[in-house]
Amino acid sequence: MNPDLQKLQLYPFEKLNALKAQCQPAVEGHIALSIGEPKHEAPGFVLASISNNLNEINRYPLTRGSLKLRSTITNWLTRRFKLSGNRLDPEQHILPVTGTREALFSFAQCFVDRSVDGALILMPNPFYQIYEGAALLSGATPYFYNTVKENNYLPDFDAIDEATWQRCQIIYICTPGNPTGSVISKQQLIKLIKLSQKYDFIIASDECYSEIYFDESKPPTGLLEAAEECGNTDLKNCIVFHSLSKRSNLPGMRSGFVAGDAGLIKSYLLYRTYHGCAMPPVHQMASIEAWSDEDHVKQNRERYVKKFDAVIDILKPVIDVNLPDAGFYLWLNTPIDDETFAKDLFAQQNVTVLPGSYLSRESEGINPGQNHVRLALVASFDECVTAASRIKNYIQTLN
Ligand SMILES: Cc1ncc(COP(=O)(O)O)c(C=O)c1O
Repeated sequence: MNPDLQKLQLYPFEKLNALKAQCQPAVEGHIALSIGEPKHEAPGFVLASISNNLNEINRYPLTRGSLKLRSTITNWLTRRFKLSGNRLDPEQHILPVTGTREALFSFAQCFVDRSVDGALILMPNPFYQIYEGAALLSGATPYFYNTVKENNYLPDFDAIDEATWQRCQIIYICTPGNPTGSVISKQQLIKLIKLSQKYDFIIASDECYSEIYFDESKPPTGLLEAAEECGNTDLKNCIVFHSLSKRSNLPGMRSGFVAGDAGLIKSYLLYRTYHGCAMPPVHQMASIEAWSDEDHVKQNRERYVKKFDAVIDILKPVIDVNLPDAGFYLWLNTPIDDETFAKDLFAQQNVTVLPGSYLSRESEGINPGQNHVRLALVASFDECVTAASRIKNYIQTLN
């Protein structure tokens, strides 16, 4: 048995189930705002592509995916992040993955050099659970950099000392952040790129919420855009992770991609040939359709805008709450301990939210998830509004 398996923590939802098992809701009609699973419908034209291409199931897919898929992704990235036309080559810079979750995990297994003592993987705190497991099973030690309210829930790269950067092999960043919704600015990304050049580490930028934002004129920036802007034209040390799960409401299709530094992509392709998770041809064809269309993505955003406006309007009188930069989460600073808040809210109002401390670890003497809860506004408009009213009622009982 791999002894590192013992280091893995319980998944947040297991902790949440144990917490909820302690009580019986007082009202009918459960509403879950706890899981970040998109609930808007999958686009009809993607479903049609799947059913029209089912016969593709009788052949093995290529690990590197079809050229058509890689070219479509190249065009999408170039358009979306305003890259120069020749920056990305589908043969060198793009690799489809079966959802970013497995990619974020396997990436660390591929790139950590276990022969170096004290290897660190840096990650935000609070964080998406996979980063920590990826670090632990790759033989590296996770290092948690806090993202706190005082810094608008953004990382403070200046606060990380030189010895840590020297041991850093990979840094995960999550922009827009899960759970915080904060978007790292282009200037900060450029600062991080300079650090990666100085200390030679890889930046793994998880951008899977990049298409859920509230102002059509201000899409979140990304790492490749920053690399181009600061003259890192060969994208050295820069890798981005993108997904159709949130953008196109296709979490079950398991379709995403990684893109960036050609040398890293080449090694990662070799790794993945053995890892063995090529995307089924049917899903590749459907993904081509999804990455080629922006109308459904815009409509998707419009639905989130309405939900956020309504929910914030309801909650504003009772708690400090603001529209995040992007993403579909509200990261609420609770007036009491987050576990108690989540447990009593469930018991009294039958609404499930996720305690923030389940998404974070103690680091630098604090646990930045404490006194926070995460609300995923993925349910229907009506359910989100009802949940917000119940949360408001519950908060009023605290005063
Ligand atoms: C921050 C973050 N990254 C990656 C993922 C994985 O998404 P997928 O594997 O569906 O692409 C999720 C899913 O919730 C997430 O929240």
